[in-house]
Amino acid sequence: MVTFAVSKVESTPFDGQKPGTSGLRKKVKVFAQPHYLHNFVQSTFNALSAEKVTGATLVVSGDGRYFSKDAIQIIIKMAAANGVRRVWVGQNGLLSTPAVSAVIRERTGHDGAKATGAFILTASHNPGGPNEDFGIKYNMENGGPAPESITDKIYENTKTIREYLIAENLPNVDITVPGVTSFSGPEGQFDVEVFDSASDYVALMKSIFDFQSIRKLLSSPKFSFCYDALHGVAGAYAKRIFVEELGAQESSLLNCTPKEDFGGGHPDPNLTYAKELVARMGLGKSNTGEEPPEFGAAADGDADRNMILGKRFFVTPSDSVAIIAANAVDAIPYFSGGLKGVARSMPTSAALDVVAKHLNLKFFEVPTGWKFFGNLMDAGMCSVCGEESFGTGSDHIREKDGIWAVLAWLSILAYKNKDNLNGEKLVTVEDIVRQHWATYGRHYYTRYDYENVDAGAAKELMAYLVKLQSSLSEVNDIVKGVRSDISKVVHADEFEYKDPVDGSVSKHQGIRYLFEDGSRLVFRLSGTGSEGATIRLYIEQYEKDSSKTGRDSQEALAPLVDVALKLSKMQEFTGRSAPTVIT
Ligand code: G6P
Ligand code: ZN
Repeated sequence: MVTFAVSKVESTPFDGQKPGTSGLRKKVKVFAQPHYLHNFVQSTFNALSAEKVTGATLVVSGDGRYFSKDAIQIIIKMAAANGVRRVWVGQNGLLSTPAVSAVIRERTGHDGAKATGAFILTASHNPGGPNEDFGIKYNMENGGPAPESITDKIYENTKTIREYLIAENLPNVDITVPGVTSFSGPEGQFDVEVFDSASDYVALMKSIFDFQSIRKLLSSPKFSFCYDALHGVAGAYAKRIFVEELGAQESSLLNCTPKEDFGGGHPDPNLTYAKELVARMGLGKSNTGEEPPEFGAAADGDADRNMILGKRFFVTPSDSVAIIAANAVDAIPYFSGGLKGVARSMPTSAALDVVAKHLNLKFFEVPTGWKFFGNLMDAGMCSVCGEESFGTGSDHIREKDGIWAVLAWLSILAYKNKDNLNGEKLVTVEDIVRQHWATYGRHYYTRYDYENVDAGAAKELMAYLVKLQSSLSEVNDIVKGVRSDISKVVHADEFEYKDPVDGSVSKHQGIRYLFEDGSRLVFRLSGTGSEGATIRLYIEQYEKDSSKTGRDSQEALAPLVDVALKLSKMQEFTGRSAPTVIT
């Protein structure tokens, strides 16, 4: 057994190591500076209670983006030096964010060990490569992101750090082959266990869904399927689940080889960045001319996000979670006993609210950020939740789950078609969504993103919108001046949330303008960017009349968009005449 020694290395603080909504995200060049990653990792160890470090088992892996391999070796050496007993690494350093959550909660090591936390190496949907983003976040024993009490401590520690511990002479571990490598250090044995990235996650999915009925659907000659991993880590799961377990054709997988730079693309599953899938599904301008598949889906870099498409049809994430909630008990065995409750983030449309009301379910509206759902789930108050930002999930883990969402949709399709697989025509994604609108009404919804805006200008715009809220009559004068056919603003505020489980209060969670007819305008600054500021504008309008739920959404929302842009003086503040991305 190779013996290692522990070195204390002197260091000085770096500015700006404050973890955002989902960990610390910076350019690779920033992370690659000497001591930069080390400081953050040591600050994390120092923020955890002793038993979560000394003798503990930690998972270290991620979406495989550029710099991950170096980071994994550094973290292994620092874990060893800090007295961690075992580090678990997914083969080739790959584990999707939902798989990490599943591994923490479900996996038992070769020696019976269980993990108590994880360093997840990802910047989610941000591009990767030498000139792009890297990221790191810490997840806790429940499989969810560290709460603010921990991330605040980490940040405080990064401001005062003077030294870190590292086992400099520990040889690099081969993470390409499963197996256990043991070392001997001052505190005793230290193991690195490399394991198959997919097995635990696949087993969990099989315990939730009826794979046989999905397999039947996929084998129907009337059904066709397409999945785009955008060269993110979802590719490592797609082949195992969709092809090997469910019998989909290999040709139905697009961009399913994980790449360090995501093939140069932006691994964000939306109508702008998932170009190839969007074209294949017959949407957008670059239509391929071939008959599109019945069902298409995409994932982001770390596979926690999802986009669901039907043939020439886009399902908004807000509708998606509402439709999953409405059908979960019938279509998904895991939920057959009923739903404990449902939840959405504030900017997500109110489609889920209407389902909760109809089905008499507990309902929660939380600020943006998956951690807020985690608390509700740990307390047994919520089964299904989702966000407009292409995140959907359930209490099977404590992260959103891109492949889970696809399996949920396939389950609903399988359920709706169970007596129909040999019939004339299958019930399609579009049929399911239109039927849902007919039953519950439709929330027309769109999001405008202004990426990489000058941070000062973005702050000024937000401050202006808050100030404006003090006079609703002034607001309504502006609204009337822009469009006389729009209803009145009856309430305006900054969203604030009191967590029903731990009583903590989160303020300034987005600026809301609420209209008399249920329409909403929401403005927020993104918490996940790595450069400048991103302004998000969310626009929503409710239509109950089932004869009016079939309109084109950009067209239906045009008047409200007009109002939003003028009310916020968007162009004046940002200099932008159009958003970077519309979803
Ligand atoms: C991450 C979190 C999500 C959240 C999203 C918001 O993906 O996991 O829970 O919805 O960030 O991103 P934004 O850029 O809008 O702050
Ligand atoms: Zn992600």
